[in-house]
Amino acid sequence: MPATVVIGAQWGDEGKGKVANLLAQGADVVVRYQGGNNAGHTIVIGSEKFALSLVPSGVIYPTVTPVIGNGCVVDPKVLLDEMATLRGRGIDPDNLRLSGNAHLIMPYHRKLDAVKERYLGRNQIGTTKRGIGPAYTDKYSRQGIRVQDLYDPGILASKLEDVLNEKNLILSRIYNTLPMDPEPIVEEYLGYAETLAPYVTDTSLLVWNAIKGNQTVVFEGAQGTLLDIDHGTYPFVTSSNPVAGGALTGAGIGPRDIDRVLGIAKAYITRVGTGPFPTELDDEIGERMVEIGGEFGTVTGRRRRCGWLDMVALRYAVRVGGITELAIMKLDVLSGFGSVRIATSYEAGGERYDDFPRQQRVLYGCTPIYEDHAGWDEDISGVRSLDDLPKAARDYLARIEELAGVPVSMVSVGPDREATFLPA
Ligand code: IMP
Repeated sequence: MPATVVIGAQWGDEGKGKVANLLAQGADVVVRYQGGNNAGHTIVIGSEKFALSLVPSGVIYPTVTPVIGNGCVVDPKVLLDEMATLRGRGIDPDNLRLSGNAHLIMPYHRKLDAVKERYLGRNQIGTTKRGIGPAYTDKYSRQGIRVQDLYDPGILASKLEDVLNEKNLILSRIYNTLPMDPEPIVEEYLGYAETLAPYVTDTSLLVWNAIKGNQTVVFEGAQGTLLDIDHGTYPFVTSSNPVAGGALTGAGIGPRDIDRVLGIAKAYITRVGTGPFPTELDDEIGERMVEIGGEFGTVTGRRRRCGWLDMVALRYAVRVGGITELAIMKLDVLSGFGSVRIATSYEAGGERYDDFPRQQRVLYGCTPIYEDHAGWDEDISGVRSLDDLPKAARDYLARIEELAGVPVSMVSVGPDREATFLPA
């Protein structure tokens, strides 16, 4: 059985949680490999709605082992709260496994995230203020505190003291805010240590054994390709690698262990936070996408910026993410638009860009070159097979396949799980 990576092919919020959840049914292991509680996954099952930010969406199936891999950053309070909420709704999260190598989000990370954004003013990134960036910064500057440190109180206290010596100078001298006391933090985190102990495992070994044992493994990406720290619209990105390559380092497996990379894209495109966005619509069409698509963030409630489908960016996502097939989500939102547009290239300074520009400056000043396609007026939210879609919608999907160079293997026309179908 295959190991599948599910990745966002745009700026996040594409509906990865829903697809990962569909694939999780019948899977043995579902792994989060990067990010933290900056992600937000809403899963709808019947009349029940679940909003998860850290626990992999497979948690709702008792047969699945949900894994939080080493590449994630973990806010232990958020994790425990989320587990308690799941228990309260009759879902047992006790199969969860957490990597001892995952880094912890500490209170000073959250604080630094917030004050730094304030300090940046007009140039702010628009982060989720969950401490994600500062936690990854500490990981790479080798000042991070890992889950395994919770089980060595002496090391935890000494690392924390060292790191706070520096952070407190930054907080007080640069950001003019109050320093933090290490003792209550040690106490708080040692409390989490005890509760989390049954879940902490060598998750790389667990995933390896599952793959070698021919089990079905789903790697659930968070955020999306254009928010990737290396391949996204830097610096308006997150601090990890949502692309499929991130699954290798973030779960501790090798490239030959992956069989399939499913890229998730909306039938249009959205982003939250600041940064370039060539096909953004600042008009009533964009407003309509927000309204019909319910385009408000799961985590922060922020209004998402909306635009026409950008195939320059999607082709790029296919390339850098090693995407083998696409899932096109929210196709129903485009019903009734009269005609629909697809950006196939950009134009800037008299030059035409068929490939994603290597110089980011181009993204700010470029004009998308659009193809106009006939729209459809029918409400397609009740459609359950490709053949029953209006011809214009089928043509739209066929054009996406053609431009992306990979097949569309899944289409979604509504929030229910039944509203997602395979084209075959
Ligand atoms: P951070 O990940 O909180 O540091 O935020 C960095 C950028 O990534 C901001 O533009 C956020 O809005 C964006 N971002 C982070 N997580 C998500 C997500 O799950 N969906 C969409 N955007 C996200």
